[in-house]
Amino acid sequence: MASLRKLAAGAAVIIAVGAAAFAYLTAPAHVAASALPGRQADIANGQTIFNVGGCASCHAADYKANPLGLGGGLALRSSFGTFHAPNISPHPVAGIGAWSEAEFVTAMLKGTGRKGEHLYPAFPYTSYQRLSLDDVRDLHAFMKTLPASDTPNKPHELGFPFNIRATLGVWKLLFLDGEPFRPDPARSTTINRGAYLVEGPGHCAECHSRRNALGGITAEGRMAGGPNPEGKGFIPNISQHAKDGLGDWSVADFEMLLTNGSTPAGGFVADEMAEVVQNTAKLSPADRRAMAEYLKTLPAREGRRPPAAK
Ligand code: HEC
Ligand code: HEC
Repeated sequence: MASLRKLAAGAAVIIAVGAAAFAYLTAPAHVAASALPGRQADIANGQTIFNVGGCASCHAADYKANPLGLGGGLALRSSFGTFHAPNISPHPVAGIGAWSEAEFVTAMLKGTGRKGEHLYPAFPYTSYQRLSLDDVRDLHAFMKTLPASDTPNKPHELGFPFNIRATLGVWKLLFLDGEPFRPDPARSTTINRGAYLVEGPGHCAECHSRRNALGGITAEGRMAGGPNPEGKGFIPNISQHAKDGLGDWSVADFEMLLTNGSTPAGGFVADEMAEVVQNTAKLSPADRRAMAEYLKTLPAREGRRPPAAK
């Protein structure tokens, strides 16, 4: 009997420790205000990060008419339900005007919201977590200069269990590594700059990759294309695979695409990619060149080209 009681007590301890460890491991992470020493923000750099980050593509109510009105916009359909991009204009109530800098940095780098809740990865913080702290701070300073919009947020339309934000703690444990961008010392400064822009703010992999059933990008499917998560169409393989991907594109071809959306086959990209190009067109030629040089180094990965690929 005594040994049975001991066993039960032991099991209870293991469960309690397990639950505490689980709560600890899946707790939303924060960046403290003390991690943000005083500095002069570079607003022009913030605008560059805003452009390459494509913030307006999701958060502008009417991207074409008013690309700087961040009153919330896009309805993002997915197999988990529909997300509505919130108001991130400087409005103090409807937007994020009352957020501290640390709260903004926390959202961008940790995917944690102002109330300490996990944010959904439909907000591509799995890529934005690679941003440097200074770039996020400059981005925030730039966004403060934009017009405020009083449009209230629309609630997401998600089924159970995806409507429970706490479940995202497990998702983050699996798919959010919390690592900053690390330049590769074996590569040129230009290629490292391109890698940072493509993998971090540019978040190209968020659309151009295959995902598993939990919505995480698979290693072998990274940049290898796949069905559009929004349900319509197919997003092309942009890896250097000779047959399935863009192994036959030159650095200059990539540069041209990022400048005006034209492809070597003589066409122009459409749909979401046309909006991405509207953003990359605003970058400096040096940044586009850096992105192009990096894209030319992407490992070749299999993944069929869509039937109608140009
Ligand atoms: C692919 C679409 C998409 C892009 C691109 C995007 N976001 Fe978002 N963002 C979202 C969605 C969806 C949410 C809501 C997440 C949630 O409710 O958990 C969100 C939430 C946020 C939040 C939290 C707002 C709140 O009220 O809690 C901030 C801050 C934010 N985004 C900033 C940005 C910035 C800055 C950029 C550009 C660097 C950006 N986003 C790019 C879709 C996007
Ligand atoms: C919001 C989703 C999305 C994002 C983010 C995105 N793309 Fe695309 N991309 C697409 C879609 C969709 C197409 C196909 C467009 C078409 O068929 O006209 C495409 C097409 C392309 C093509 C042409 C491929 C071909 O076979 O012709 C290239 C190259 C490309 N994207 C590179 C990039 C790079 C580099 C980035 C990051 C800066 C990026 N994309 C970000 C959705 C996206």
